Amino acid sequence: MLKKISSFAEYQQVYKESTENPEKFWDEIAQSFLWKKPYNKVLEWNFTEPNIKWFLGGKLNITENIFERNLPKFAQKTAIIFEPNDNKEASYSLTYQQLFEKVCQFSNTLTNLGIQKGDCVAIYMPMIPEAIIAMLACARIGAVHSVVFGGFSAQSLADRINDAGAKLLITADGVFRGAKSVPLKEIADKALEKCPTIQKNIVFQRTKEPIAMQKDRDIWWHKAILDVENTHNSVEMDAEDMLFILYTSGSTGKPKGVVHTTAGYMIYTQYSFENVFQYDPNSNDIYFCTADVGWITGHSYITYAPLLAGATIVVYEGIPTFPNAGRFWEIIDKYAVTHFYTAPTAIRALQALGLEPVLPHKLDTLKVLGSVGEPINVEAWEWYFENIGKKRCPIVDTWWQTETGGILISPLAGITPLKPAFATLPFPGVMPILVDNEGKELLGNGVEGNLCIKFPFPSMLRTTFGDHERCKQTYFSTYPNLYFTGDGAKRDEDGYYRILGRVDDVINVSGHRLGTAEIENAINENALVVESAVVGYPHDIKGQGIYAYIILKSEAKNMSETNIKADILKTVQEVIGAIAKPDKILLVNGLPKTRSGKIMRRILRKIAEGEHNIANFGDITTLLNPEIVEEILKSSKV
Ligand code: WTA
Repeated sequence: MLKKISSFAEYQQVYKESTENPEKFWDEIAQSFLWKKPYNKVLEWNFTEPNIKWFLGGKLNITENIFERNLPKFAQKTAIIFEPNDNKEASYSLTYQQLFEKVCQFSNTLTNLGIQKGDCVAIYMPMIPEAIIAMLACARIGAVHSVVFGGFSAQSLADRINDAGAKLLITADGVFRGAKSVPLKEIADKALEKCPTIQKNIVFQRTKEPIAMQKDRDIWWHKAILDVENTHNSVEMDAEDMLFILYTSGSTGKPKGVVHTTAGYMIYTQYSFENVFQYDPNSNDIYFCTADVGWITGHSYITYAPLLAGATIVVYEGIPTFPNAGRFWEIIDKYAVTHFYTAPTAIRALQALGLEPVLPHKLDTLKVLGSVGEPINVEAWEWYFENIGKKRCPIVDTWWQTETGGILISPLAGITPLKPAFATLPFPGVMPILVDNEGKELLGNGVEGNLCIKFPFPSMLRTTFGDHERCKQTYFSTYPNLYFTGDGAKRDEDGYYRILGRVDDVINVSGHRLGTAEIENAINENALVVESAVVGYPHDIKGQGIYAYIILKSEAKNMSETNIKADILKTVQEVIGAIAKPDKILLVNGLPKTRSGKIMRRILRKIAEGEHNIANFGDITTLLNPEIVEEILKSSKV
């Protein structure tokens, strides 16, 4: 266990020290980890190139810190409790020793297949312990994993595999999701038609539905591990060796591969996990995070940090509403969960179904509730606090990003005084500032602006894979010498932060990040479409919904609107995945454009939000085609 902050006064003191002398601060925390060779410098950085390096010269392996460091104490402790999608199927658990052996065995399996340090391995798996085993085995042999969310399409999977040049894919026959199953292997097969770098594909048998195996390429997981040794000496990694790539959407272009490296990520995630959640590995604390390993939350706060901390985690394969809307609450009672971490969209969806599914469950083991992924509205916060936490459990509203690797602004459970819908205060070592659109720092409290970070913290992204310039342009160029988060925030009179949401062209749909450009490109691939513009709009459950304005080709004129829309949705599902399907489609004859040809999204956003008064649209006289605004507005009301 790392140094734990135990009072608000202590937080204030630690925070002060951490910002006055960050290197000393992180150096002390780093001492609790196992190093194969000590580092000789804590930090080297500039935000202009950018060049960010922590714990220079240090050698280590993150899985040695999960296993070899923890096993003397926790060998027989439960590491993973697996709860299947269907509650009639038996659950099971793995101790740290058992998980270690499985990871070692799979590490040897990967090595036997020729995977070496520095190679990239793509993982396209259900939310089952093998997904975690696969990730940890990669980390153990120094291979770089790139996990692709199981809801992405063949095209998205292929794009990610090709961008990283992955040599191996690890997938499953299928995934159970509520009452249905999704044929992952079939989707992967389609993707692999376009992936020349993939040499082998390991397939875990989960749904047992019949699938075709391609000779020489596809290998069953259970066969690949037969007779493979379950001991393994971890590979030595440099502190700054790549640990993983995780693709995420931005305002322009295709999703980019955010790169995280070994030591800084390890140290920051464990330290933040233990302190934000006040998780105690020496007690009976059971931690249940409902995220998927396909997202950063599933990397940092399911796989790495909790296992580094020696926590017992619940891994749940399914969805919140199957077989009924009490599923999360049933799981909490079944395993005496103490720490529960989920997304506002799930809270709102369950809130909408009323208290009936909640009431049969005691929920009396809960100590801490968490929220992540999008702004939580006050109503959802209060519902969660009263009905799930029974007014006993603090809610940690944790703000962070794929790029930050770990939680940056959040209450510490039971320590930081709470304010509904506020992520509250920065974590030790994190130095946020707000700037106006010209980049001028907004000093003092009671201000609102663009949220930036002015000093590095160990778990921040180092680059975007294969394109450092893009990393610089996206995050370090908007405001000189600052990391720009893409979020707007307000700092209230007490110095508390409230995250207001994205200020760029990224929309956050049910906690999933999608770029408007990315969705537009997908829509434009449909043969009926000339042009499209996508904006976000407030959605009761999803937080933001996707609103697409689409101009059709003349051939589409004799097709029914219903068929056209269905066809477009199908295209989006094929290009990106079901999560990117627009909630609303409006067929239009034109889009409001500036004289330089740029779409005026501000106007489209207003219309999508339901604003009917043109007077509130701001200046539209500079448009090339001002008349189109009235026309779109009219058809939006139909
Ligand atoms: C949003 C998820 C408000 C934010 C960990 C950020 C939040 C984006 C919160 C990153 C929160 C995440 N309150 N907004 N507690 N947490 N966000 O990369 O807009 O999937 O920039 O990482 O989600 O999404 P990502």
